[in-house]
This record gives sequence, structure tokens and C-alpha cells, in this order.
Amino acid sequence: KLQGLRNKIVTDGTFPDFPKPGILFRDVFAITRDPESHRTLNEIFDYYSKKAIERGIQAVVAIDARGFLFGPVLALKIGVPFVPVRKRGKLPGNVRSVAYSLEYGEAVMEIQEGSIQQGFKVLVVDDLLATGGSLRAACELITKSGGVVHECLVVLELLDLKGRNLISAPVTSLLQF
Ligand code: PRP
Ligand code: HPA
Repeated sequence: KLQGLRNKIVTDGTFPDFPKPGILFRDVFAITRDPESHRTLNEIFDYYSKKAIERGIQAVVAIDARGFLFGPVLALKIGVPFVPVRKRGKLPGNVRSVAYSLEYGEAVMEIQEGSIQQGFKVLVVDDLLATGGSLRAACELITKSGGVVHECLVVLELLDLKGRNLISAPVTSLLQF
């Protein structure tokens, strides 16, 4: 199953020199554009969610914007709150901020104050792990909010960039490149 999804990324979701020369862009929408691949991914999420329930996951956080394709689905399957981490200026109310760098740029990430219950075991979700800057920033926001980052899940991992080395919690990736 995973091999089929990986092939989908290779055939329909690989773009050299986007958004800048030298970047080999892997496009997770290659999976969502194809209903059969999308359904396969959903089945993998069913399995992951059952295990996440057994591990006692109490909240799901996902990262703006492509993390939102998958985080809410997992939160529904697990039956816990979905909490967004967003880029600067998009979340209303009082927010906590952290600056981070990514593969091709810099940005600030925010979480709403009070959005994570103290001591909750959190699953952090994103579409793709590259340098790890985004995921690390999200983990930092959760920890500073009083949550416990129990584990992270990404659909795609770019192994060359060694992003998982920045993350202290265990990281599961479904597809590696
Ligand atoms: C991409 C991707 C991850 C992040 C990975 O998001 O969706 O969130 O970069 O890179 P990193 O591991 O080097 O931090 P991007 O910031 O391009 O935003 P988008 O989801 O809004 O397109
Ligand atoms: N694909 C999608 N998003 C990304 C990538 C990529 O190759 N690198 C950093 N963010």
C-alpha cells in the first residue's frame, strides 16, 4: 500500500526546481488528487488512529497549511480536539509565537493561548518533514503551552535534510524520499 502511494508521488508529485532552483519539490496533493490513493492513505490513518488511541493521545496539532489536510481527519478518528498551529497573524485572540527557518525561507508560527490542556499527550501532524524547522517550532509551542509532545506523524519525509534530528519526540513518516 505504502509503495503505491510512494509511486504516486514519484509519477505525479515530483517537481524539480520548485519553488526555487535546486529544490526537488514533493507534492502531497498527488495523493489527494487521486481518490484511490487518497482512500488508501485514509485506511492507513484508520490503523494509525487505533494505535494512537491505545497510546492515550489526547489532542492533535497540525501545521498551517498542508498539515490541515490530515490533522483534523486524525483528530476525528482518535476522538480528540484538533488544535491549529498557524503562520503569523492568522489566529485570533492571545497567541504564543516562535520564529523558525524552513528549507527556503523564514517565518513565525503561532498557537492560541489556552488551546492545549495542561499535560495533554499531543500528536503533531504535518504533510512533510524537510529541515524540521516547522515541526520543531510546533513542538516548542506545544511544550511552552503546557502540552506533552508524545509523537509526530508526517506523510512525507525528505531524508537528506535530516529534519528528524531536530525533534526530541518520536517521528513516524509514511513515505521516505
Ligand atoms: C512546508 C511543509 C511543512 C514544512 C516542512 O510548508 O508543509 O510544513 O514546509 O519544511 P521544514 O521541515 O523545512 O520546516 P510551508 O511552510 O511551505 O507552508 P504551506 O503548508 O502553507 O504550503
Ligand atoms: N515539498 C513540499 N513542501 C516542502 C518541500 C517539498 O519538497 N520542502 C519544504 N517544504
